[in-house]
Amino acid sequence: MCGIVGYVGPRQAGPIILRGLQSLEYRGYDSAGIAVLDGPGELAIRKSVGKVRELTSFLSNGAPSGTTGLGHTRWATHGKVALTNAHPHMDCRGELAVVHNGIVENYLELKKSLLERGHTFASETDSEVIPHLIEEGLAQGKSFEDAFAPLVDRLHGAHAIVALWKKAPGKLLAMRRGNAGGLIVGLGQSEALVASDLPALVPLARRVCFLEDREIAVLTPAEVKVITPLGRVVPKRFDPVSTDAAWADKGGYKHFMLKEIMEQPQTVGSALRGRVDFEAGEVRLEGFPLSREQVLDLRRVLLIGCGTSLHAAMVGRRLIETFAGVPAEAESSSEFRYRNPTIDAHTLVVAIAQSGETADTLAAMDEVRQKGGRLVAICNAEGSQATRLAEATFSMRAGPEIGVASTKTFLASLTILALLGLQLGQGREALGRQLLQESLGHLASAPYLLGQVIADLGPYQRMARRFCHYEHFLYLGRGIHHPIALEGALKLKEISYIHAEGYPAGEMKHGPIALIDDKMPVVAIAPRDELYPKMLNNIEEVKARGGTVIAVGTQGDQELAAKTDHLLIVPASPPIIAPLLVTPALQLLAYYIGVQKGCDVDQPRNLAKSVTVE
Ligand code: G6P
Repeated sequence: MCGIVGYVGPRQAGPIILRGLQSLEYRGYDSAGIAVLDGPGELAIRKSVGKVRELTSFLSNGAPSGTTGLGHTRWATHGKVALTNAHPHMDCRGELAVVHNGIVENYLELKKSLLERGHTFASETDSEVIPHLIEEGLAQGKSFEDAFAPLVDRLHGAHAIVALWKKAPGKLLAMRRGNAGGLIVGLGQSEALVASDLPALVPLARRVCFLEDREIAVLTPAEVKVITPLGRVVPKRFDPVSTDAAWADKGGYKHFMLKEIMEQPQTVGSALRGRVDFEAGEVRLEGFPLSREQVLDLRRVLLIGCGTSLHAAMVGRRLIETFAGVPAEAESSSEFRYRNPTIDAHTLVVAIAQSGETADTLAAMDEVRQKGGRLVAICNAEGSQATRLAEATFSMRAGPEIGVASTKTFLASLTILALLGLQLGQGREALGRQLLQESLGHLASAPYLLGQVIADLGPYQRMARRFCHYEHFLYLGRGIHHPIALEGALKLKEISYIHAEGYPAGEMKHGPIALIDDKMPVVAIAPRDELYPKMLNNIEEVKARGGTVIAVGTQGDQELAAKTDHLLIVPASPPIIAPLLVTPALQLLAYYIGVQKGCDVDQPRNLAKSVTVE
């Protein structure tokens, strides 16, 4: 969480930092601040509560002048959303400015001893201990670097930190410890930058390099030197920056979320591209790291992720069991890590993370590596930490997803998981040639069918007007659509702040049925699949108790139309692609309800796109 950016060079730092913060806002947006150093004299700090645009408009008469600076956009962990808690934080003398991403797990102990030694604190944050610790080193006569380096060991937890010191103009120090959302340094024309993510570097940086655990970067306009905490220089390769990382625009849509929903036919197409040999009837996921023998020896597949990626894992589990005939489980990364899971070389772990920076997923991946499991990732962010932990990464290729609530990356994950299931089935000879060929054909038809789902937005808009005032929703699904019900409910919660529960429809009678009344609409996922008759029973049960049913069903299903109050239609499809068609209907329902309620659908309150704290 939190976005960090720093600049040192010949240009005015303020506007560059503000632009960088804007592109990092997906990491948090409850307050923002910048610090700019004008020569050795003036260290100016400006902060505001709210989004980066509040800070930009606060500085509309001109950002403080200076060519060395840093900035931060915050997602609060310690200390409420308030101006005093916004970064940058300073030392007692007002000579240091520090921005921080992560949680200082031992901050209470550090703060107590700093207070005993006479330091004064202005905020409730854990981060503020950092400038005071550096201040102590400087007071002992150490250089800026020597006062900064011990932070690597003194701060517990995972961190990304950037600092500037009034008495060292033209220099920024940056540090990464553990997995706190990454830190990338970039080199431009006689200028250097550092940021949490590539889009903040792209306009100026020509070559970039990712800091690894326990590395410190010393940035000056002439060079970026990377050192260990003991000052040994680490040789680093700077790679040309990919323009794919450039900031995306809304392409004429009112919100990124709507644009990203509408892009999904292309998303599925590009997740398939080059991975299927349709003539030979074979799947070839690039860099798949298991040999034929290892695939045959697999005893278990474990899929992990958080939020929307966890729901993708739950769908993937079913696809892999169906096609590969190997036991598969899905689990939240945050739970997996703390239960001492049994993993061995016969376990394939599939980590799913659009950002590649979710702290819980990275920690779970570390655990898998330590235990000797095989590890692949499905990820949308090139060069992210997840891609570096995994033996191989299958890129989502979805392009930047800016809306905080994931949409197109979910469909990209589902597509890749279907391919993975087929590839494992192929390798284990668990899948007949005909089923494989048919399944590939179905996947190839998904972009076209998906286009039909999003062709007419009218039904979603009408439904949103009708249902936006309700306070509770229940989403029901069975089999492969159980996780899709969870995802539909999550989308509604995230962007409209309406309470929504996703439930396996068969479980409704064991509790949730008590809640059914005319105040809680039920969204029932009921395409014509093998579980359709059971779903019809559940719909009857809701109707018998006075509930209102919005069904997502197959085109032309008169029986369903007769039994439900409202019907959202998707084309007839086989199970392998049905979730790809049902999900956009639920995304659009949530989107238009959020819009109807006047919510900030691209940046919902309290959320962040990349959750880099555990
Ligand atoms: C946050 C976002 C969710 C996302 C989850 C996992 O909570 O708000 O939309 O699903 O992180 O993100 P990941 O990058 O790991 O897929």
